Amino acid sequence: MFAKRTDWELTPNPLTRLREIKERRGDKIWDLTESNPTRCGFSFYNDKNLWTTLASPQNLRYEAHPQGLLKAREAVCVYYAERGITVLPEDVFLTSSTSEAYGFIFKLMTNPGDSILIRRPSYPLFDLLAQLHDSELVSEPRPDTKLAIFVNPNNPTGFYVSSQERDHAIKIMSGKGAVLSDEVFFDFPFKNELERQSFAAENKVLTFTLSGISKVLGLPQMKLAWIVVSGPRNEKKEAAKRLEIIADTFLSVNTPVQNALPAWLSMQSGMVKEMRERIHTNRSFLTESFKNSSAVEILNAEAGWYSVLKLDSGFSEENIATALMEKCNVYVHPGYFFDYNEGAHLVLSHILPPDEFREAVGRMVNYLDG
Ligand SMILES: Cc1ncc(COP(=O)(O)O)c(C=O)c1O
Repeated sequence: MFAKRTDWELTPNPLTRLREIKERRGDKIWDLTESNPTRCGFSFYNDKNLWTTLASPQNLRYEAHPQGLLKAREAVCVYYAERGITVLPEDVFLTSSTSEAYGFIFKLMTNPGDSILIRRPSYPLFDLLAQLHDSELVSEPRPDTKLAIFVNPNNPTGFYVSSQERDHAIKIMSGKGAVLSDEVFFDFPFKNELERQSFAAENKVLTFTLSGISKVLGLPQMKLAWIVVSGPRNEKKEAAKRLEIIADTFLSVNTPVQNALPAWLSMQSGMVKEMRERIHTNRSFLTESFKNSSAVEILNAEAGWYSVLKLDSGFSEENIATALMEKCNVYVHPGYFFDYNEGAHLVLSHILPPDEFREAVGRMVNYLDG
């Protein structure tokens, strides 16, 4: 009865099941996979301008625009201007999430069976997105490769795209496809002086640069993201015309968040500051905790909300993740979740309040190094 593309394994894996059992029992779980900032006690949510902005009579007026309201697109242009990049409102498309933006671009660029180049390990959603669009993920370019995707900086490995990687992608995609750069974590480098380059001004190859307020403003519940289209003039124009029809088919972005976007983006620096301080505090604690460990190495990284722990080769990541849940009530992602296909890794988030993070890491240290 159902489409083959939805033939997924629907039973939860043993780690998820174990967590559910413990939660039902009322056990306290230290969730080091937490990626929802609205559950992490940040003080930037106390700024009442975040919600008073939504109480506007303007929100009762509907102006359907496939790319999104001009004032919201102009706010996105200001966001890039502050980073030294010129983006024009006509090159911005608003969507309700970056996941939806990926979907629009997959629809625009791939025929069934075409391939999409990604680096692994990376963001786990790609498998589902590719299945839903009947395309295939590959790690080497093929003649049918229509899209090369970067997460810049990558989740979970935390590196910005290097100029070599960028040049290579431009070379292989020029005239035959496009580059997509997902920059939701771009504003979260671990150090100020890090060299990093957005793709939003790339004009040598058709390029889609994605970002959105779920990470940039810590407002995933507000559902607003964007695509910046850049590249050679004619390809860009053709892409924009087709994308406009895709976006017009869904008209998925609601009016209140578009009206609020200029005010919200003007408040961004406070959010980024608090988030980066927390990530710094938690990552420093993590590094210090495993400094002398023979079993665990904290992998180097430049940016993002996550850290990757490499386990001594004697360990199985799945057994360790399960044991951490079973014995310590600590929930971490095993590396395979992000497509680490060799070695043993754990991935953990840094956005929990520091006292909870310390408790969780302390429990891990006791178990792994004890
Ligand atoms: C790399 C990356 N891109 C996009 C997203 C999701 O963004 P959105 O909420 O806008 O779909 C995430 C969420 O964790 C992510 O890790």
